[in-house]
Parts: sequence; structure tokens; C-alpha cells
Amino acid sequence: MSCTAVILAAGKGVRMRSKLPKVVHKAAGKPLVAHVVDAVRAAGIEDIIIVVGHGREHVENFFAGQPVKFVIQEQQLGTGHALRQAEGTVDPDSTVLVLAGDTPLLRASTLKALLEHHQKCQAQATVLTTFLDQPAGYGRVLRDEKGSFLRIVEEKDATPEEKQVTEINSGIYCFQASAVFRVLQQLQPLNAQGEYYLTDTLEILKGEGCRVEVMSAAEPEEIHGVNDRVQLAQVEKILHRRKNLQLMRDGVTLVEPDTIIVDSDVTIGCDTVVLPFTIIQGKTSIGEDCEIGPWTNINDSRIGHRVIIESSRVKEADIGDDCVIGPYAYLRPGTILQEHVKVGDFVEIKQSTVAPGSKIPHLSYVGDATVGREVNIGAGTITCNYDGQHKHPTIIEDHAFIGSNTNLVAPVRIGEASVTGAGSTITRDVPPHSLAVERADQRVIPWKKKRDH
Ligand code: UD1
Ligand code: CA
Repeated sequence: MSCTAVILAAGKGVRMRSKLPKVVHKAAGKPLVAHVVDAVRAAGIEDIIIVVGHGREHVENFFAGQPVKFVIQEQQLGTGHALRQAEGTVDPDSTVLVLAGDTPLLRASTLKALLEHHQKCQAQATVLTTFLDQPAGYGRVLRDEKGSFLRIVEEKDATPEEKQVTEINSGIYCFQASAVFRVLQQLQPLNAQGEYYLTDTLEILKGEGCRVEVMSAAEPEEIHGVNDRVQLAQVEKILHRRKNLQLMRDGVTLVEPDTIIVDSDVTIGCDTVVLPFTIIQGKTSIGEDCEIGPWTNINDSRIGHRVIIESSRVKEADIGDDCVIGPYAYLRPGTILQEHVKVGDFVEIKQSTVAPGSKIPHLSYVGDATVGREVNIGAGTITCNYDGQHKHPTIIEDHAFIGSNTNLVAPVRIGEASVTGAGSTITRDVPPHSLAVERADQRVIPWKKKRDH
């Protein structure tokens, strides 16, 4: 049986108090709705429709180029109305898995179990529920004396007795497509919020004699919805804890993991050690046998194998195998270090490529530069890449030796195996195998300091 997932994500999320729609707020490095899409994909469902409305361009932009379809709900008239917008896009013979865009803790295994339960029972509808000690805010699941499903009542419509019920609606359901789209047309907004409630379809189907099943999630944590920024922070903490456990199980050592933050989509190779107070974000990949940290922040970068990065900031950079970085290096976007490169303390690199075996050990700024192999850049070297209006390139060829405190005024090229004298300001190209010195002759003048020592 074919299966389509419909993710409801058109709401504003008023309680977030934000200019952005709720579902694009990020937790552990990616939008809430992207966590839901990833869980759906991991459950083996390829056909994914997202119902968008409020701030839909933000959601659409995030998924640009991905195999995800969008349908638009112009006015947010409720969850039932939202699902109805997908009617023309879903095959009536398929199973529809309906989810909300604000439940990022959901696991693929739970979705698979829900689908299996739904299909095994040959139900027209199956709702995923769970039991919460503090069910406030959720729809409550009402059952008859025999324990079979009666209906779902929203918090705002519930009587005091109904509010005592601790079984809550996760907002995740399986439906037989033609059945749900048929009864969606019968919904009436006769409730406290004046909305078309998707939850009412279950009661209508039940009344028609259809089979409505209830499945309880093993882990209540999974269905936690994010409605405000307090819940966003709670959910993110759980995602980070899960990620750390997964990394350790996969062979990564985390020293004092409670101080280490790793986003969901980061990958780290086996036998890499991450030291305390390290933050690894976005789409970063780190190879095997590295030592990262302490006090290091890396985002959206590729780090090879056997790399050491200590107390440094690495942003959108590509670091080859066996590099040694830090402490206190700042690698900015467009930095490409090939293998065996050393970048030491208080070095900033931007939009530059450094070839294998080169060293920039101390106190330098390298921007818009191409550095060859086995180059040594002395302490205090600056590429003067900006003339106030434009950025200009610096090229340093293989085996060059840049003396300490050299200013390289770009555009400029230092030829192969050439040397610059310490303290020189180099404004013209230096041919290969040459020494360029730009320095006034030293004068020695007899001098008496005011106070003798
Ligand atoms: C809903 C359920 C409630 C359940 C809870 C679980 C209904 C009536 N209630 O309540 O029983 O316990 O989820 O988290 O379904 N949305 C749209 N268009 C709309 C309205 C909502 O796309 O017109 C989307 C929202 O963007 C959100 C999702 O549907 O992603 C759920 O909407 P929300 O307003 O958060 O529903 P709850 O009040 O939490
Ligand atoms: Ca919600």
C-alpha cells in the first residue's frame, strides 16, 4: 500500500512571539519541520506533502531542491481544514500519515510501528497517543467503559472531568485517504476556537462504523510539541543529549559530554575525542582519530582525519588530514587547508587555500591568499588585501619563506622558494629564488637616557 505523509505546518505559532513561522525555528541546527521530514524519510516514506501558509516562503526556501511537495492553506482555519488542502494531491487509495510540523523529537521507529499497527488492524484511522502526568494543552483521548475509542476533546472544550484524563492526542495519525477526505467535508467549526478540528474526523468515522484504532507511544518524550520558546529550549536539550549518546555508541569519545553540544546533522568518525566546552554545529563532518577542543566552536565545516583543533573557531572551512590548528586560531569562510598544515595561535585565515606541509604558526592574518606547499609564514605576517574599496589576491608559491612581520600588499606574488626579510612591506612581485628586503638601513646614534641604569 502506498503511503503519503502530510505535515501540517501552516500555523503562525503565536506563542513563539516571532516574525518567523514556528516550524522554521531551529533546534539542534535545523528547523523543527526538517526534523519531522527526516523522521518520515527514515521511516521509508518518500511521498511528503507539507501544508504551508503563514510565512510559507521561509519553509519553501529551506526545502528548495528537495523532493517535498507543498500545498497552501491560505487561511488557518484549523487542523482539519489544513489536511483538506492536500486532497487533490493524495492518491485516494493510499494511507495518509498526518503529522504536525512542531514535533521534532519523533523517531522513525515510532512512525513505522504506527503504520504497521494501522495496516495490521485494517483500520480507517489510527491515532498515536501517550500518557502524560501534565496533560495540559493537549487534546484528551476519551474512551468508553470497555476502553475503546470514543472521541478527542481539546483542552479548551473539555469539562473539568475530561481535563483529568492523562491520555493525550499526539497529533499524529494514519488514515485511509478516501475515508478521511470524505469526512473532512462534514466538519463543523462548532467549538471554543471556531476551527475545523482534524480530531473530529475520528469521532465521525467511528460513528459511521469504521475501525478507529489507538496506539500508545512507548516514549512520551517523542510527541512533545513546541509551542513557545521555553519548549523549544527543552526540546533542543533532548536532541543534543540524544546526539551525544548516539556519538558515544558509535565510537566517539566525549569528555564531560554535558558540556559538549553537537547538532543533529553533524557526523564524527570513530576514535575521535571531543574535549569539554566544545560546540559543533550545522552540517559539519569530522573524520576519525581527531582531537577537537577544549573550547572549540566549529560550524558547517569538513574536517579530515587525525586533525587536532584546540581552543579555536572554525566557520565554513575545509580542513585536510593531519592538520594542527590552534590554540586561538580563527578560520573563516572559504578557508581550505590541505593536508599537514599547521595554523597556530592568533592566526586568522579567510577565503584562502594553503597547500600541504605549510605553516602559519603565530599572529598572522591571511586573506584572499593562495599559499603553496612547504611555505613558512613568519609571526606577525599580514596580507594587506583590502585597499578600502576592493579585495586583492596574494599568491605565495611553494617553499617560500615569509620573514616575521612582513606586510604583503596585494595584489602581490612571492615566487617559488623566495624569502622576504623580516619587517618588510612588499608592494611588488618577487620573482622565484630571490630575497626581497624593504627596510631602511639601521642607524646607530649615541644616546643617553634621562635616567641611568
Ligand atoms: C493539536 C490537536 C491536539 C493535540 C496536539 C498535539 C487539533 C484540533 N488538536 O492541537 O488534539 O493534542 O495538536 O500537539 O488538531 N496547523 C495548520 N493549519 C491550521 C492550524 C494548525 O497547518 O489551520 C498546523 C500547525 O502549524 C501545527 C499543527 O497544525 O504544526 C498543530 O497545530 P496547533 O495549533 O499547534 O495544534 P494544537 O493546539 O497543539
Ligand atoms: Ca501544537
